[in-house]
Amino acid sequence: MVVSHTVPLDGEFSLSDLPGGAGRIDVLCRAAGDAFLLSHGIRKDVALHFVVRDQVTISLWGPRLRHLNPDERSTAALLREALRAGRDLPPGAEREATPGITVRSGGLAALLAHLQGEGIEPVVLDERGEPLRGVPIPRQPAFVLSDHRDFTPEEEELLAPYPKVSVGPLVLQGHQCITLVHNELDLRGAP
Ligand SMILES: C[S@@+](CC[C@H](N)C(=O)[O-])C[C@H]1O[C@@H](n2cnc3c(N)ncnc32)[C@H](O)[C@@H]1O
Repeated sequence: MVVSHTVPLDGEFSLSDLPGGAGRIDVLCRAAGDAFLLSHGIRKDVALHFVVRDQVTISLWGPRLRHLNPDERSTAALLREALRAGRDLPPGAEREATPGITVRSGGLAALLAHLQGEGIEPVVLDERGEPLRGVPIPRQPAFVLSDHRDFTPEEEELLAPYPKVSVGPLVLQGHQCITLVHNELDLRGAP
């Protein structure tokens, strides 16, 4: 789960200016690439949620996901489609924007409540947390990270009950953290 603070909610931005007018949507695109893409194919057992400005949640579902490619521009186009599909959603409603990408009206609190209802346990990625190597990881974890900004105080409060885990002492880019978490889970799952 990536908490996004600056992407335009209405999906009105140019694909030629992802770091500028699109509010650093390039950060989300790299997160999506690292969350799903393998050398050939995608990780089917992954879901990725982007909470945008605490208003809408875009979810990418590995089993149904189509059209995710390594380039950031085409991923930004998918996310833009989802934002536009979410513009007139009533509270709590959900819509499929493109195959495997849904948009739901609601922010971080609603997503955390929904995940908990599904038996999914949040784990917050934080460089000051317990080292990932060696900590027990829930059977169904949801790793939570912020975009290029810090979590807001309100987000910190919502995330306070959950364990904090570090992938190393340096502050990394979010997408790099996703790759490191995958690597740890891959190694733990290795025969
Ligand atoms: C680019 S960092 C945020 C940088 C921060 N806002 C700043 O300006 O210094 C994005 C997210 O990656 C995660 N992150 C970065 N480094 C990490 C680390 N070493 N261990 C765990 N999570 C990390 C955190 O969730 C962070 O919010």
